[in-house]
Parts: sequence; structure tokens; C-alpha cells
Amino acid sequence: MQSPGWADLHGWRLERSGGIPLVRQIYGQVRAAVLSGALPAGTKLPSSRAMATRLGVARASVVSAYEQLLAEGYAEGRHGSGTFVAADLAELSVRRHTTRPIKARATPAPARAFPEFERAAAQIDARPFGTGRTLVDARTMDTWRNLTSRAARAFGANDLGYSDPAGLIELRQSLADYLRAARGVRCEPEQIVVTAGTQQALDIAIRVLLAPGDEVWVEDPGYPLTYAQLLLANARPRPIPVDAQGLVIAAGRRAAPKARAAFVTPSHQFPTGVALSMARRLELLAWARVSGAFIIEDDYTSEFRYSGPPLASLQGLEADGRVIYVGTLNKALFPGLRIGYAVVPPALLPAFVSARYLMDRQPPTLHQAVVAAFMQQGHFASHIRRMRQMYRGQRDALAETLARRAANRLKVDVPDQGMHLVAYLEDGTSDIAVESAAQQAGIVVRAISRFYRVASPRPGLMLGFSGFPRQLIVPAAARLAAVVAK
Ligand SMILES: Cc1ncc(COP(=O)(O)O)c(C=O)c1O
Repeated sequence: MQSPGWADLHGWRLERSGGIPLVRQIYGQVRAAVLSGALPAGTKLPSSRAMATRLGVARASVVSAYEQLLAEGYAEGRHGSGTFVAADLAELSVRRHTTRPIKARATPAPARAFPEFERAAAQIDARPFGTGRTLVDARTMDTWRNLTSRAARAFGANDLGYSDPAGLIELRQSLADYLRAARGVRCEPEQIVVTAGTQQALDIAIRVLLAPGDEVWVEDPGYPLTYAQLLLANARPRPIPVDAQGLVIAAGRRAAPKARAAFVTPSHQFPTGVALSMARRLELLAWARVSGAFIIEDDYTSEFRYSGPPLASLQGLEADGRVIYVGTLNKALFPGLRIGYAVVPPALLPAFVSARYLMDRQPPTLHQAVVAAFMQQGHFASHIRRMRQMYRGQRDALAETLARRAANRLKVDVPDQGMHLVAYLEDGTSDIAVESAAQQAGIVVRAISRFYRVASPRPGLMLGFSGFPRQLIVPAAARLAAVVAK
């Protein structure tokens, strides 16, 4: 059974500029057509000669692509009659062609829970004012390339195997030195567990600390990914309000005095940017000590402080082992790095390391070696100094442009720290409506009312400034001002 027009009808997209070899591209596109059902089982593929003419490529490229498909079982040769899509893929094609929606009941309940979580937290849009983005200048980029190739060259037999699930000791040593000096964290390198970022550190903390049904304080408004992780673990997050001094501890004590843990962002509350006052810090620690709860301190953006003395970590204020301090290099350097860490109280360390081991064994050795060298050689400190200056300029450019063009509609809280600011809509305009109007105008803003659970939302726009140079920020801020003026 031949499908005469298939190769002609197919929207071939062959890239000839030399990136991906043509053989790979032909193989990949035929395979995708088989998997999608566009090329059903039993279909005869054009002869290699006809296909080569059709695509304007050497016949040898088609022959190699077909050989790969034959070797992997997507195609089969029939003696004397050519190459066919393998007949035993019929089941696959039938399934792919089905248009019947999968019954909700057929999907396991845990799987159904996932898509329902807050997607506004996805931070993959590269346009201003997407949040969580960073800039990396040419100097860091060069250093990074050099250190990466040096680390790869130095890789020996030992580095190729499994290693300590808590991370390379060189990296943990550098992190401990940095955290003691810059954040007042009390720690030994052995207490540091390298993770794939905050996200994994929070996940491990939840697994180690909480049983299903346990109550947990979360900030309201607060970080949606923590909330989602807690729900997935069948814990019971209890939203506790935030005011100008940060989390209202008295409200937490009233609402859930027996909570097992509190997840907080004390140095730069997400999303408001408020710093937890010293009085509240002491109150929170006192509650944890008396009630036996743990505090998970998410210190995600402390490297970028623009004025005033930094408030040292909450962890450094206590000696009872009730705080898990979580930090990330995905903000200090770049989110694609996927390296963060937790400073874990000694009593919890064996459980924490075991949980990490069971999740994905260990962090990748090569990346850790590069980061360790980057820190040991002083590049990290100078990168932070340069970026801090750059981000401060970007923050000011954003705040000034909004003040000049939209002061009557937006009240901007200029933060002392962090990578985003919040522009409040003072006249009752819905931030969700502005979010979608801005989207239409090509500008990314996050409506902060999405981050409220119980407390009544103060409408505002969360605007990331760290990921965009001034020359992009100023015109985008002007466009945003025009959007809110409508
Ligand atoms: C509150 C908070 N914590 C942590 C992070 C960083 O997460 P990760 O280290 O997993 O990239 C973010 C990123 O947006 C954040 O907003």
C-alpha cells in the first residue's frame, strides 16, 4: 500500500546551514511522521532515489536515514519491493488516530492533580518584564567557557562515576565560606546539600518534615510553587497574611498554632519585597522553638541588595537547628544552571541526604566543578558586584519611567533588594485585566492577585527588571504606561 503523495505533502523543514546533519533531520522527520500517525504502519516509503530528488539531497543521506529507521524498528525492508513503515506499529497508529477523549476516570488521580497548579509561575517568556531572568556579561561568559573546558580536560576516572549525593566537597566548602561571610549563616560544609535549585530543596524539605495532613504556614500572598508542592504532598498549607513588617506571626499562631513548619522568604518577601522585621524574626523563631516546628528560609535573591545594610539570615539568629536555609545559584548566576543548596540542621542531615539520593542520586559532577572553581577563584564575588550595579540601574530606569509616565495609575514600590518590583494599581483596576492587556501589547507582567490565597488582594503588577538592559526597559515601561492609561 503506497501513500503516493506523502513525501510531497509533508512540510519538510531541512536546515542546510550545517547545524544538524541532514541524515539526522530526514530520519527525525520521518520518525515523527510515523509516531504522529501521519505515516501509518505498512506505508511504503519513497525509494531512496525518489526521496533524494524530492528533497534535493544526496541519495546517500536518505539511505543512511532509512538505515537508522530500519535499525530502530520504525521501518522494515521487504525483499525486492522497498522500505515500509513497520507493520507492527499498527497498534501505535490506531492509538494515535483515536480522537476519543481519554475519560477523566482513566487518568490516575495524582496525575489529574498536576495540571491544575498555578501556571502563571512559568517564567519562560524572554520579553520584559518577565521575572526570574538574569543577565550574564561577556566577562562571566568567557570565564565560564574557560572553566568549563578546563574542568572537562581535568576530568579523571573518579569524576566519571557516582559521587557524594550531597555534592562535591569543594563546592560545599566554597558555599559555606560565602554563606558565613555574606549571609551570617552558621554552617559547616558538611551541612550543605547541593540540589538542583530551590525547587528541589523545598521538595526534599517537604518529604523529610511533613506527613500527609500536616499543617504548614505559608505567606499570603506567597510563592505559588511552594504552595503547589505542599498540596501535592497532601500537606495542609495555611495562608498567613503579610504586612509592612512581613509575615504576621500572631495571625499564624491564631490560625495554626500547631503547624509543623513555616515556609518563608524573610529577606525579600515574594512577591511584595518586604523584609521580615527583626521583631517578627525573633517572634517566628520563638514560636518554632516552643511548638517544635521547622522554618524553611527561602533566601532566593539576597545577593542583589542595592542599599542599606543587608539583614543577615534568619538561620544565623538561632542555634537550635530549627531552620533549613535554602539558597540558589540559579538567581545569582542564571536559572538554566539548576544548582542550589540547602543548609540542613545536623539532626536532619542523614534524612535529607537520603531523600536527595533517592530522587536523583547526586548533582552533576562537571557543573559542580565549574561552579566551585568559579567561586574559589573570586569570579563569583566580582560577578555579583557587577550585576548588582547593573540591576540597580535597570531597577531605577524602570521605576523612573513609570513614575514619569504613569504616576497617576501606578504606585511603584522601589525595592532595596531583588530582581523585580511591584507597581500597585491604586485606583481599583483589575491587575488580571492589565496583565492580559499588556500581553496583547507584547509586555509580560504578573498580576500579583494571583499569589493571594485568603487575604484580600492588593492589585499590582510584578515586573522583573534583572533580565533586561536599560535600553529594553525604558521603551517597554513606556508601552506599559500607555496600556494602564487606557
Ligand atoms: C520565591 C522564590 N524562591 C526561589 C526561586 C528560585 O527557584 P530555583 O532555584 O528553583 O530556580 C524563585 C524563582 O523565581 C522564587 O521566586
